[in-house]
Amino acid sequence: MLHNAAMTIRVGVIGTGNIGTAHALSLAREVSGSSVVAVFDVAADRAQGLAIDIDARALPSAQAVIEDDDVDAVVIASPDDLHAEQALACLAVGKPVMLEKPLAPTLSAAQQVLDAEVALGRRLIMLGFMRRFDPGYVALKNSA
Ligand SMILES: NC(=O)c1ccc[n+]([C@@H]2O[C@H](COP(=O)([O-])OP(=O)(O)OC[C@H]3O[C@@H](n4cnc5c(N)ncnc54)[C@H](O)[C@@H]3O)[C@@H](O)[C@H]2O)c1
Repeated sequence: MLHNAAMTIRVGVIGTGNIGTAHALSLAREVSGSSVVAVFDVAADRAQGLAIDIDARALPSAQAVIEDDDVDAVVIASPDDLHAEQALACLAVGKPVMLEKPLAPTLSAAQQVLDAEVALGRRLIMLGFMRRFDPGYVALKNSA
């Protein structure tokens, strides 16, 4: 549950590489109604540097970000093979997720995440898969 729906959504970012840093800077500086309060990356220096830039805390693990009481929603921008397990951990605590594509590296792992969300009965996962809106991809699909 948000700390106050009329106030700022406090985001935790897991994976502060290329796209995770872009999301964090955007959420911290450009998007109204959001702030980034916690970050994690196995490259601790990178996470710490970003945390200082945006006045967030660098936490010791992905799970610490997911469970942090100050984190309302999570951005997962870690490597592909971690997406499913980290998304499942977010579902386990009922937090909304912006999950970078791919949902999972295998069909069965993707199905596991879908099944967990359906069992929860709430749509908490948004997949960052923008190609479906890319005019070139849409034209290609329509021509198939
Ligand atoms: N939707 C899009 O347009 C889009 C664009 C770029 C990347 N992506 C996706 O985002 C993800 C990240 O891509 P990237 O280009 O930022 O890669 P990147 O290699 O720049 O960043 C990945 C980061 O994850 C960190 N990491 C490694 N193990 C980790 C762990 N156990 N927990 C947390 N972080 C860990 C790495 O240290 C690195 O900083 C990929 O899954 C990629 O497919 C999506």
